[in-house]
Amino acid sequence: MIPARLIERKREGGSLDREEIRGFFAAYLRAEVTDYQMSAFLMAVFFRGMNQEELDALVAVMLESGGTVDFSHLPEPKVDKHSTGGVGDKVSLVVAPLAAELGLRVPMMAGRGLGHTGGTLDKLEAIPGFRTDLSMERFVSVVGEVGCAITGQTAEIAPLDRRLYDLRNATGTVPSLPLIASSIMSKKLAEGLTALLLDVKVGDGAFLPQEKEALELARTMVALGEARGVRTTALLTAMDRPLGRALGNALETREAIDCLAGGGPADLRRVTLDQAVEMALLADPRSDRGATRSRAERALDDGRALEHFARMVAAQGGDAEVVEHPDRLPRAEVVIDCAAPSAGVVTRVSPRPLGWGIVELGGGRRAVGDRVHPGVGFVLMVAPGDRVETGAPLGQVHAACAEDAELGSSILREAVTIGAGQPQLRRLVSHRVSRDGVEAL
Ligand code: URA
Repeated sequence: MIPARLIERKREGGSLDREEIRGFFAAYLRAEVTDYQMSAFLMAVFFRGMNQEELDALVAVMLESGGTVDFSHLPEPKVDKHSTGGVGDKVSLVVAPLAAELGLRVPMMAGRGLGHTGGTLDKLEAIPGFRTDLSMERFVSVVGEVGCAITGQTAEIAPLDRRLYDLRNATGTVPSLPLIASSIMSKKLAEGLTALLLDVKVGDGAFLPQEKEALELARTMVALGEARGVRTTALLTAMDRPLGRALGNALETREAIDCLAGGGPADLRRVTLDQAVEMALLADPRSDRGATRSRAERALDDGRALEHFARMVAAQGGDAEVVEHPDRLPRAEVVIDCAAPSAGVVTRVSPRPLGWGIVELGGGRRAVGDRVHPGVGFVLMVAPGDRVETGAPLGQVHAACAEDAELGSSILREAVTIGAGQPQLRRLVSHRVSRDGVEAL
């Protein structure tokens, strides 16, 4: 195999057969294909896409690059959920303990920030002591004892994805349908799941902003899961504005705790409940949707989901006192208000610049291995449709120094459009995609 010839063929819009895909990626794992050759190949895929045979072969080689988790000793249904990535999306922190409270086992392998989107692991690591590098044995035992665990991809799970994930983040090749689908599904299919819920984001803050592409991504991943015996459903959720009010690692963890305690912003609660109910229905399709929703609402309102979260935090080495005393979470050195430059109606809060803004403030990575500042970010005080007066606060900027705070303030002012008329917003949860087809909600 001559790597450059396969790269050329892909670049020119040709296709590779199953053996060529396997051979190319296996050679990468053996260091016979270099990072620069793989980067060129990924860029060719970004522009040319992949056909079904290429995608199946890629998922297979990614899965086979590692092992799978064995949960056969646990009788309960094992159900995970995974988001394609958004801004302010802290749902995983809430939905994992909530679904466990509904009787599911939730073995969640999550990721770090990717591009302008935040990562569940970075948010959890804001909790002092919290370990996201559980060994496979510890992961399996926490899921058994507590009902849920959230950890990073262990070295045994789809190691090829781990390497490609970092490379894609550094080479502008994240927003590609086959690369996203294979990355997510290779990890999830290795988790030993009964069922999987996918949260496919759509709108400016998503990797694939257009509804048509998001639906295609959802259909592709559902088909990949079902073909391998994992019941899979996707919900399309809005990312044309941030989810919730808090953006940035510790700030989001704090908001997730509010939601677990029955409070928090209404959009976060709604998306979380919809996802928890969908996970329960995937585990047992005979359950009654209304009754399951009431149980989930009660678990948030009576503190059981929060207790479950605290048990998971303790089992993963974290300071469980944060659930009662969120002030123990790290804070930024400087907090300032950002004032509205004019009066009018907020017609848009653009998630993508705010996501990159968090990276600018040090809350995300510019290069592989960078440390993140857990305390920095934004707390929005306005949402689309709100009326504001000149000088009223649009939000808070949490930054490491005064200079960064000023930068954050200008990013926030740019991200919020003040005009006239009502904003055009996507439905918060717009479609369900399952093996039965696409349902508009
Ligand atoms: N999440 C993943 O795990 N991989 C992607 O490519 C995008 C989101």
